[in-house]
Amino acid sequence: MKILITGSNGMLANAIKEELKNEELICTDVEELDITNSEQVNEFVKKTKPEYIINCAAYTAVDKAEENKELAYKINAIGPKNLAIAANENSAILMHVSTDYVFGGDKPVEEDYKEDDEKNPQAVYGTTKLEGEKLIEENCSKYYIFRTAWLYGEGRNFVRTMLDLSKTKDEVKVVNDQHGSPTYAVDLANIIHQVIDKKIEFGAYNATNIGYTTWYDFTKKIFEIKNVKCKVIPVTSEEFKSPAKRPKNSKMSKDKLLKNGINIPTYEDALKRYLAQE
Ligand SMILES: NC(=O)c1ccc[n+]([C@@H]2O[C@H](COP(=O)([O-])OP(=O)(O)OC[C@H]3O[C@@H](n4cnc5c(N)ncnc54)[C@H](OP(=O)(O)O)[C@@H]3O)[C@@H](O)[C@H]2O)c1
Repeated sequence: MKILITGSNGMLANAIKEELKNEELICTDVEELDITNSEQVNEFVKKTKPEYIINCAAYTAVDKAEENKELAYKINAIGPKNLAIAANENSAILMHVSTDYVFGGDKPVEEDYKEDDEKNPQAVYGTTKLEGEKLIEENCSKYYIFRTAWLYGEGRNFVRTMLDLSKTKDEVKVVNDQHGSPTYAVDLANIIHQVIDKKIEFGAYNATNIGYTTWYDFTKKIFEIKNVKCKVIPVTSEEFKSPAKRPKNSKMSKDKLLKNGINIPTYEDALKRYLAQE
């Protein structure tokens, strides 16, 4: 099967390339295919005729997006629109990756977000990602949108940062009022593979590992598994200021994927596998 992967040097793209290595992959970085260039996207898709386009290209710097609004919009909204039009015109299926940040994050933490719940992004990154989702829905009939969260995998990521900090510090301060599901890029890549195999209904799906935690408890879990003796101090989001507001509740229900027979590991299981090869 011919599959086009955009943004192919990114963290998730690397996991997808490994997961789908037995398929005919066309991997493109920004030099080879700039998703913001509609003409280039159209010509490339017309020429290569992929069955699937997996869009891993994105502007992912959440805090910097507050200042670089236009660039973030171009990459996170116009890019997906270009891919949606090209997919539609060339009978390809578009698989796009979005974020928990499209939700407002103000639901009580006992509740989780279902796919169709009201969207209310609190910062520029989430706003541009939501625009991208809408432009895909408007311009393409065969698409999957996978909303993921708290992604870690090959390269710089939260888990690696905490382990690095623990080497030089006796204690680390970590927010304990943001709730969500850490997600191993390898597991998200496998979810995407299962969706291709099972050909489930098109649409938007929450796609993270199973289970919920906070960044604070997640850090404690990382240190526990690695037997690291660094103290974890809980702090509030207000104490840990950042340019972009983060949702307090990023919990997304995975029922829709599960009901479609997609297997999803727990975040604890995922973390153990990731740390075993760190
Ligand atoms: N990381 C997370 O915690 C997280 C959470 C929720 C959702 N997501 C979503 O998950 C997806 C994958 O995230 P990730 O962490 O794997 O991202 P990533 O590592 O930042 O990779 C994004 C890739 O897109 C490339 N890119 C940027 N502009 C491009 C353009 N105009 N045309 C083609 N490629 C372009 C980047 O290239 P350069 O590096 O050369 O710019 C980079 O290789 C994204 O859609 C993101 O929004 C991520």
